[in-house]
Amino acid sequence: MSRICLARCRAAVVALSATIFLQHSMAAQSAKPASAPTVYVKAGHLFDATSDNFRDNVILVVEGERIARIASAAQIAIASGATVVDLSQAWVLPGLIDCHTHLEARADKYDPINEVKDTPFMGGFNGVVNASKTLQAGFTSVRDVGSQPFFAVDLRRAIDEGYIPGPRVVASGPALSITGGHGDMNGFAPAVSNLMYPDERDFAIVDGPEQVRHAVREQIKYGVDVIKILATGGVLSQGDKPGAEQLTYDEMKMAVDEAHRTGRKVAAHAHGTEGIKDAVRAGVDSIEHGSLIDAEGIEMMKAHGTYLVADIYNDDYILGKAVEFGLPKENVEKEKTVGRLQRENFAKAVAAGVKIAFGTDAGVYPHGDNAKQFHYMVKFGMTPAGAIRAATSGAADLIDRAGNVGTLEAGKYADLIAVTANPLDHVEALEHVSFVMKGGKVYKDELAAAKGSRP
Ligand code: ARG
Repeated sequence: MSRICLARCRAAVVALSATIFLQHSMAAQSAKPASAPTVYVKAGHLFDATSDNFRDNVILVVEGERIARIASAAQIAIASGATVVDLSQAWVLPGLIDCHTHLEARADKYDPINEVKDTPFMGGFNGVVNASKTLQAGFTSVRDVGSQPFFAVDLRRAIDEGYIPGPRVVASGPALSITGGHGDMNGFAPAVSNLMYPDERDFAIVDGPEQVRHAVREQIKYGVDVIKILATGGVLSQGDKPGAEQLTYDEMKMAVDEAHRTGRKVAAHAHGTEGIKDAVRAGVDSIEHGSLIDAEGIEMMKAHGTYLVADIYNDDYILGKAVEFGLPKENVEKEKTVGRLQRENFAKAVAAGVKIAFGTDAGVYPHGDNAKQFHYMVKFGMTPAGAIRAATSGAADLIDRAGNVGTLEAGKYADLIAVTANPLDHVEALEHVSFVMKGGKVYKDELAAAKGSRP
């Protein structure tokens, strides 16, 4: 095709898209209801995540997608005939946020050979199911950190369009990895390794700062919200060591500079002691895993205000399933060295006052079980309120969505859940979420079913 033709064709496509866009937005405008419906949510006990306590007998006035007002029940007169959601026997909290998920992944498919067996469509099917399970478990927002290009971006769009149910998604692209690193397909002949989703190789395997710069810019071009980098080796990869640094400081610094320049954050997978420190020095916004962090690393995280997102439930699932899954000895051994230390070091980081955001690596274990991690966060040093705030106000701050989610306040999205026992007494209550509202829409309501009807 000649240059001129290419330019003309492009102009035609642009004009056509502009027309379609205009028609769409006009249709959308005319379809908009005159005023958003008002729903009164009666909360027996409300944890709004601006403090560490519940307060009793509160009403949230929800208009459309957002909370218009919150006040004690005595202060709000509910008009007769108004829509009421009765959670007066329940404990109501903000929708939970998991800052480390892989909605494309299934926990029963660890074998890397799947990467050359499945087509990318399989990831899409997984995503539809996993997004729904996650929302049903009370997680109304997630940060998805590492998938094929650009699964998470499309998933975010399909959910935002209301086409499929799921949490709000803060999307990354494939995680940036060095050649032979945690994100590469190691242990195969070159011809097989190169079959790893070819697209993914292009966007994710980087050597040297300039390749990092290009990859970050490309991922941003295709719509990611956050950049995920692999600072050290990993547990479930082949032929690398969790403790060993992989990306260099200069490579990480490049990723951070390029991402931050566009207002995007950087999440760094980092198990190893030195890789954690270089990632913090480079200015990443969160350390994922953080397993082998030492006292100096803890101090550095505090000084930089870096969040720790530690997946401390995973170890149970991985070691529990190792035999059934035929997990290679290499991975089992790596998990055995990392899992216990990760929990101990998490406790040290908590005691030192490092900022903690909730993140589980869902996909390594089955989606929907996210809340099982609360038990461990409390066991390893957090208060129940602290653990809940790590999954609400803290997580919202890390994912840069604090203006919209993470607390229940006027102006925020009406993303809320209810449980039937006080999670401050028994944090495991969050493993059984009875009610889920996202953006004012009810996605789960076992309380109404139990009562027979809902007014
Ligand atoms: N995706 C991580 C990795 O392969 C999982 C680590 C799980 N183990 C743990 N103890 N958190 O490195």
